[in-house]
Amino acid sequence: MMETVYKPTYPGGIPMAKALSELLEEGVAGRHVLVRSDLNVPLKDGVVTDDGRVRASLPVIEKLAKAGARVIVTAHLGRPKGKVDPQYSIAPAAARLAELASVPVKVATDLVGEDAKAKAAALADGEVLVVENVRYDARETSKDDAERGEFADELVALTGENGAYVNDAFGAVHRKHASVYDVAKRLPAYLGDLVKKEVDVLAKTLNDPERPFVVVMGGAKVSDKLAVIDNLIGKADTILIGGGMGYTFAYAQGYEVGQSLLEKDQVENVLRYLKEAPEKGTEIITAVDVVWSDAFSADANTEIRPIEDLTGGKLGAEAEGLDIGPKTREIFAEKIKGAKTIFWNGPVGVFEIAPFAEGTRAVAQAIVDSDAFSIIGGGDSASAVRNLGFKDEQFGHISTGGGASLEYIEGKTLPGLEALGA
Ligand code: 3PG
Repeated sequence: MMETVYKPTYPGGIPMAKALSELLEEGVAGRHVLVRSDLNVPLKDGVVTDDGRVRASLPVIEKLAKAGARVIVTAHLGRPKGKVDPQYSIAPAAARLAELASVPVKVATDLVGEDAKAKAAALADGEVLVVENVRYDARETSKDDAERGEFADELVALTGENGAYVNDAFGAVHRKHASVYDVAKRLPAYLGDLVKKEVDVLAKTLNDPERPFVVVMGGAKVSDKLAVIDNLIGKADTILIGGGMGYTFAYAQGYEVGQSLLEKDQVENVLRYLKEAPEKGTEIITAVDVVWSDAFSADANTEIRPIEDLTGGKLGAEAEGLDIGPKTREIFAEKIKGAKTIFWNGPVGVFEIAPFAEGTRAVAQAIVDSDAFSIIGGGDSASAVRNLGFKDEQFGHISTGGGASLEYIEGKTLPGLEALGA
């Protein structure tokens, strides 16, 4: 892990918030500390399939508990839309946390109800309580300040007298939600180590990268990444474009794309990027060949097609591109090899299906083989590299925040950070 020397200021010039270390110096023994963590993990049949976020949340929770705090963890899981819905229960994530933790972890059966209140009040120094999914209450995500504030008051009440708040949920800092934003206005609030580390790395990458700075952009839609590309043009030396969004680039360059993902309404933006990027010192490199397929499945018929004639092979115009082709993989790998900083967001193919995973694997391998400091931003890219068998330690930094890291890179002010710094 690179040592970060860059001191971030948040977008909008917001001053650095108080760090967790300051809270520990003030003393937490006997105090209830409300921690907002990001425990939004994928589940299959009620079992956590990628515990990356649980592991990433553990150090701050343990640090506080070991210093004698009575820790109350709040977190969301999925989007239950303000209703109690067992498929979104925090329980499996909390159970994984309890398994991994070296401190006692209890779990409440409700959020701010009788069980949570009783268990919070009964916590001993050094114990942890995880309350239910904060999104079981519609006020958590309400657009109405008063409604969110009322819910925040109920969360704060769990801490009794002399409570404190630590936001360690980097993945949620872009949400103006009660447990992320309003609670921070009501309790002495501190920046958790995970959020600090994420912001340090992203701020350094964006403002002071070691060059060449190469960005790999993938994922389905150009429209999801517009602001990111806008903000990176002029900052990155090279942007490599893959994934579903690549077909809108191909179409904008005048090529037929068959049934591939296409956002016609983005063609104008894409043409603007292709024109502006070289003027601002950024080269944009798009695919020269793709894996052309007649179905979105592992037993599809596929062929490698050059970008200038995708539809002219045996599969024709009824097929679609689902991965970057071998020549493109080589070009991307060469650029990655020469980089000193790499930011990767979004898989370059449908990595979940074996015949279309090779492009994403080649990008991950090239990053691992390079000497560059690499940042993997975005939940999909993180699970792609893990699912393809790569280890977290092989990369400089795997961000726990998908939307949050993108919004940071877009240069937006993130409510969770703003609330801490204000
Ligand atoms: C994420 O998965 O990126 C975070 O946990 C935020 O989740 P959300 O997009 O549902 O707010």
